[in-house]
Amino acid sequence: MSNSKRLFLRSKKVIPSGINSPVRYYDPYPFFVKKAQGSSLWDVDGNHYIDFCNGYGALLLGHRREEIISSVLSQLKKGTLYCAPTELEVELSELISKNFPSMQKVRLVNTGSEATMTAIRLARGFTKKKKIIKFEGCYHGAHDYVLVKAGSGAAHMGISVSDGSLEEVSKNTLVVQYNNSEELASVLEKEKDVAAVIVEPVLANMGLVLPEKNFLSDIRKITSENGNLLIFDEVVTGFRMSPGGAQKSYSVEPDITTLGKALGNGFVIAAVGGKSEIMDILSPEGKVYQASTYAGNPVSVSAALASVKTMNKNKAKLYPKLERACKNLVSTLGDLASDMNIQHQINSISSMFQIFFTDKQVVDYSTAKASDAMKFKKLFNGLLKNEIFVAPSQFETVFLSYAHTDEDMQKAIIAYEKALKTVKE
Ligand SMILES: Cc1ncc(COP(=O)(O)O)c(C=O)c1O
Repeated sequence: MSNSKRLFLRSKKVIPSGINSPVRYYDPYPFFVKKAQGSSLWDVDGNHYIDFCNGYGALLLGHRREEIISSVLSQLKKGTLYCAPTELEVELSELISKNFPSMQKVRLVNTGSEATMTAIRLARGFTKKKKIIKFEGCYHGAHDYVLVKAGSGAAHMGISVSDGSLEEVSKNTLVVQYNNSEELASVLEKEKDVAAVIVEPVLANMGLVLPEKNFLSDIRKITSENGNLLIFDEVVTGFRMSPGGAQKSYSVEPDITTLGKALGNGFVIAAVGGKSEIMDILSPEGKVYQASTYAGNPVSVSAALASVKTMNKNKAKLYPKLERACKNLVSTLGDLASDMNIQHQINSISSMFQIFFTDKQVVDYSTAKASDAMKFKKLFNGLLKNEIFVAPSQFETVFLSYAHTDEDMQKAIIAYEKALKTVKE
């Protein structure tokens, strides 16, 4: 019996389903990781994988990036948690604000879920309105406000509203189709009690779905006209698409932004920020309550500081290199699938992509859902057999990191070719 299997059987006795986040499970059991470095993962059986899951997008700089590890090691010698403010937090917030000018003030939190929860509470407190609107298939974390027709694991497992979620909460979350600004406008014509519209500017939790031309600027215009706040959930896109996130790439300014993932490049940190007049209603000065023991802890902050500085310093090389590598992989993958007569669509942007087995363009939840998930499962298994680890679901995105070498990308192409043959069978 493999060590992973043995650990999984042991794990199932003490951890529900044997894993600590549902997206980590796949048939018959996941590999258990021993260590990671750069673009590589090694499991407890000595198998090697090139990582294209990359912490669901977090590891833009790859595993154990030198600058980050040394910054954290030096912080560890000075303490891990003070629960009193530090200069590091100020410096990081200044940097975030500089990268994202719409985030005039920033609160540091721990996870993306905490960031979106705070953003929504802030919007309700600021507008004194109750409802929110989200887009079908967008995932904003695992809390009741947003776990309604969500993407990621919820879409994979067919959970529209989670058992245990309060109906009183979920009924105040209205859902409209992604890439359909007309539907948003018509809902807002009737609904006058909407505090905010929250969106993933690039939808990375339904596979990858890109915003159509003008979608983001249209929803900016519609929300401004109707007096609703616009929240960009940039937990995936922040720092990954560009140093200023999707809002910079698409030149659309939200009222509130949430960041996570690449901000800490593998360390637990997230942020919520926006216009000063909105952020200033947070307690203790204001009456919107938000708190956390670990928020702004010096270990995570030192990691994030090193991450942001490294991304900023290398931006002239980093982003074009990732985009080139991604475009090259995607175009070869498309040719391979076409040569094998496999119906497919590939959506890609910057360092992210996903392939869908369908003949229709994937532009929203229903077109993503229409793709053949069984074929994706075969692809995933085929990739894994050939040392390529991608997220084990059609409704996730493949992420490149700056640590991927040309050789890694070549291996990925060979692996995709072999895996596509199994899709064809
Ligand atoms: C766009 C988006 N928002 C929020 C979250 C939640 O972040 P976390 O898992 O850190 O709570 C995720 C996680 O995948 C995400 O992709």
